[in-house]
Order: sequence, then structure tokens, then C-alpha cells
Amino acid sequence: MSQKQKSVSVKAEKQSREDELLKLESKYCSWGDTVHYVKRPNVFKSCKGSYLHDINGVEYLDLQMLYSAVNFGYGNERINNALKKQVDQLPQLACQYLHEEKIMLATKLAQRMEKTFEEKGRIHFNVGGSQALEDSLKLVRNHTGRSLVFAFMGGYHGRTLGASAITSSFRYRERYGHFGDRALFIPFPYCFRCFYGQKRESCNMYCLKQFEKLFETEYYSVYNKKTGQCEFVAFYVEPLQGTGGYVVPPLDYFSGLKKILDEHNVLLVDDEIQMGFFRTGKFMAIENFDVTPDIMVFAKSLTNGVNPISGIWAKEKLISPDVFPPGSTHSTFSSNPLGTAVGLEVMKLIEESDFGTEVNKKGKYFVSRLKSLQKKYSQIGDVDALGLAIRIEMCHKDGYSPDRELTDAMEQIGLSGKLTTGGKTRGLVLDVGGYYKNVFTLAPSLYITEKEIDLGVDLFEETLIKALKKS
Ligand SMILES: Cc1ncc(COP(=O)(O)O)c(C=O)c1O
Repeated sequence: MSQKQKSVSVKAEKQSREDELLKLESKYCSWGDTVHYVKRPNVFKSCKGSYLHDINGVEYLDLQMLYSAVNFGYGNERINNALKKQVDQLPQLACQYLHEEKIMLATKLAQRMEKTFEEKGRIHFNVGGSQALEDSLKLVRNHTGRSLVFAFMGGYHGRTLGASAITSSFRYRERYGHFGDRALFIPFPYCFRCFYGQKRESCNMYCLKQFEKLFETEYYSVYNKKTGQCEFVAFYVEPLQGTGGYVVPPLDYFSGLKKILDEHNVLLVDDEIQMGFFRTGKFMAIENFDVTPDIMVFAKSLTNGVNPISGIWAKEKLISPDVFPPGSTHSTFSSNPLGTAVGLEVMKLIEESDFGTEVNKKGKYFVSRLKSLQKKYSQIGDVDALGLAIRIEMCHKDGYSPDRELTDAMEQIGLSGKLTTGGKTRGLVLDVGGYYKNVFTLAPSLYITEKEIDLGVDLFEETLIKALKKS
């Protein structure tokens, strides 16, 4: 058999394995997760740095990194070694017993918050983002005795029942009966598509004024001036909306919001699950806005997408043992030693690096390249970013009407693994978010190189050209 025949036969063998796996998947895996958002899901086999490799050996540049859960790159050796070491030492332990890594991780997180916010607090661990969010709801209820909260239109806080109640999309609640504790959803300062039809240059923060107005009289249904009590006891925010399309609010928005909340006894709960761990150039995204939250929720990149662990930080008065006693929440794997060991290594890595400078530098370069592309294609309606949380809003030719079909087509073309830019057959991993599902939310590895950014922009242009040809 010639070399060429050999490689054709290996390729056919891999292809048939992929077909076989997809057949089994379609029969035995539930389709209730998000895999079947696409027609033909990819089957991946390995990863390194900014790249995924599929079962057929095709390389994909990943510009989304597991919804920002892998900020420190795939297969990060240092982080993986911490996991391997822990596997040999103390791989499992009931969370009712203590281990060193848990204590040290909590210490590092709490001390960092104390230094940043000048507030004493404690850390409480869980496994996934939604579970930590549920724990934060318990803290809020425990402190206030009430259960209703504000949250943002376009906000996403997870898909457990409690998290779905405060996530704005009705789609996530539609099939599951009545949600008595559904949040009151407030428009987010999404200035490219202002809910109130205002312009950022001249609005004078109109949306914030509208929110403040709710407290003017009890007849607006949220606040009793006589008692100083609000029926909505917390406001759940993502500093930058994640699933909502990496929307960057004006930098003085949250300080204005916090002032209103403080005046009316409403807690600020900061969901950093997607934007935390330097995605936006700061340890936590809220630091860009000069605001101290009352409670913070984090997950994803705390363990770089390896062995999950999540957590909450809260001000001492909300979480001290006398108000939040033993047994207030529990989950079997909540502070699992593999997760805490990895989290601790991530924290050490952060302490030894200067991600603040690096992320902002890379983000600026990435955005400048995308803005040049925007000048060539009117379909790119908006490019914006904070650090390496980058949004590209795809529109019709008018540069404003959302074009979901174009966005979907581009995503599919990237995932088909048949791009040829740079003389090599490759794929591109993009994720779609946004209120109209027309926004590419880029969350590349924080270690992405300038060369990879160039490649990413070129591959992005190739997907756009191909999608436009199709339409
Ligand atoms: C901002 C935000 N909150 C909560 C969640 C839910 O986290 P998990 O999927 O780990 O339950 C996510 C997940 O994407 C998120 O981005």
C-alpha cells in the first residue's frame, strides 16, 4: 500500500469510528443538554494550549475556551501536575473532614478579597456554578428572611430551578411549571441596543434613573418608604453579561447602582462565574467598576476547567458561623480535594503572574484587528471588549439588524474543520450568545499569542466570507 493509500485508509477508519460513536450517542445519550444545538456534533479527543483536536486529528483554534472555564490554557502543565500530585496523595475525602488544600484555597481567596475590597469575609465551596449560586440564594434568604430578588434582562445564572428563576430567558422556565420566586428583571445597560432607545453619549444614565424611580412610591410595587423595606432583597448581576453577549456596561454604571441598592437595603450579589479569574483583566470583573459586592459567586476558571469546584465569598456579617451555622448547605463533592488542589495552584499561578497587564494588552490588540475587519464588513455591527472578554455582534448589511442565520452559519463553518487559512486544514471554535443569538462571545486563553490572535482573526474572516457566499 502506498503512503497516500495508507493515509486515506486511516482517515476512513477514523471517520467510521466517529460515525459509530455518533450513532451510539443518538441512541443512548439524553438530548436534554446543549449538544444538539448543532446538526452534527464534533467528537473531540485531545487538547493543548489554545487548540482542540477532534477524533479525526483535525486541529481547532478555540476562541471560547469552555465558556471561559479554561482561562489558563488547555493541558496547562503546572495545573495538571497539581491534579496528578493530589491523585497520588489524597484524591478523595468526605467534605465533612478537613484537608490542607481546602483551608489554604479559602484563605488565599478570602485574603485577596479583603485586600481588594477592604472587607472581611469567608469562602463556602460547592461543585458547579449553579450550585454555588443556589448557596448564595440561601445566604440572601437567611439574612433577609425574604426570597424575591432583582436580576437583569439578558442575565444568565444557571439552570437549576433556583438559578432558572433568576435567569431572564423564559425559555429556560417554560416547561417547568410555576416559578413563584421569579426575579424582577431590569434592563441591563446594553448601550448598542438600549432598551429605552437612548444613545450612550446623551442618555445621562437614563436606565439607572428608571430603576431608581421604582423606589419613589409604594405603588410602584417594590418598596415601603415608611419601613425602609424592599420586597426584593438582592440584585443579582453579572458585571459583563456572559450568555447575554459579553455586553460591557458604562464603567460608572455599577457604582450608581450600588448607591441606590444601599439606600434601600438591597444586597448586591456579583456572579463572576464566567467573568472571574482575569477574563476582563482584573481578578474579578466587578473590580473594573470600583464596587464592593455583598456576596460573590465564582466557579469555572478557579480550576481551569479541570475537576470542578465553585464557591461563594460573602461579607462576614452574612456568613459568620453564628448566622450561617454548620449544615446550612451540603453537597457530597463540594470541597473535593482534587478541585481544591487545582484551585490552589491556579491562585499561586495568578499571584506569580501579571495577568492584569498581559490580558489588557492582548485584548487591545485583538480588538484593533477586529475593528479593522469591521471596516471591511458592514455585517460586523459592534466590536467591544473588556480585557479578553470580546464581543462581535453580527448583523445584516445595515450593521444593526441582528443576523442570527449568518452567525449560526459562521459557527457551523468554523466547527466543520475545513478552513484553509494559513495553508493548513483547521477548524475554529466560536460560541454564540446575545439577546438575539447573533453575538460571538470570544474568551480565548489568557496565554494566547499575537500570532494566534492573527490566525484567529484570519480564520474568522474566512468563516464570514464563506457564510456570506452561502447566503
Ligand atoms: C454567569 C454565569 N452564572 C452561572 C452559570 C452556571 O454555572 P454552571 O454551568 O457551572 O452551573 C454560568 C455558566 O455558564 C454563567 O456563565
